[in-house]
Amino acid sequence: MSAALPPLRLDHLLSHYGYCSRRESRDWLRAGRVTVNGAPAKSPSDKADPLAVLVDGAPVECPRGILALLHKPAGCVCSHDSREGPSVYDLLPAQWLRRNPPVTTVGRLDKDTTGVLLITDLGALVQRWTSPKHKEPKIYEVTVDADLRPELIPLFAAGTLVLEDEDKPCLPAKLEILGPRTARLELVEGRYHQVKRMFASQGCTVTRLHRSRFGEFELGGLAPGQWRLVPVEGVPHLESVLHQ
Ligand code: URA
Repeated sequence: MSAALPPLRLDHLLSHYGYCSRRESRDWLRAGRVTVNGAPAKSPSDKADPLAVLVDGAPVECPRGILALLHKPAGCVCSHDSREGPSVYDLLPAQWLRRNPPVTTVGRLDKDTTGVLLITDLGALVQRWTSPKHKEPKIYEVTVDADLRPELIPLFAAGTLVLEDEDKPCLPAKLEILGPRTARLELVEGRYHQVKRMFASQGCTVTRLHRSRFGEFELGGLAPGQWRLVPVEGVPHLESVLHQ
């Protein structure tokens, strides 16, 4: 049995979890779509534990917050702005975007980058996983347009590489050369276009970039464009940042 959640007014609850606006909640209640502990809800101002509420007969979706892992395909951007083209948000349930706050990506991947992208409505998780202080490891599979020199390994590991237009060196990064033009790179920070800029600083253009891991999260069998929910209760260390 899950621990109770703080009670919310039903109009807040329905809009917080993305079902309808606060204004529309009265109609939802009148239509009998919402029950509390099995009884039809009466007033939008009544408070209830989200775990005791059913909407259209189903429990409230992800009452403790959404955390999902998306296999980002190439060709979509990590932006809410539709002018920037197809977006990763088009691949997610519309109700997640109506939640308040809506879901967002944990950091961003470039349009042509594929792989692990975390999606959440828990701001504390975004802060934790994008903070340079936290040093969450990320692994990238990289293909470049020129043969890789072994000297790149100690260079990236040294923590002395300064990228163009920056003055702070990149933190040490682990490079494993897998083939003449393929490598695996582990970073603990996430600067703008960091992988591409690190290789560009050494005269190589990245032609394919895939993130195979973010912290403890890997794709498993997820196909490009598919997502799966991660139970927030089950992830070690997450409890400390939930409900702050
Ligand atoms: N580094 C990049 O250059 N691009 C990405 O999408 C992620 C990391």
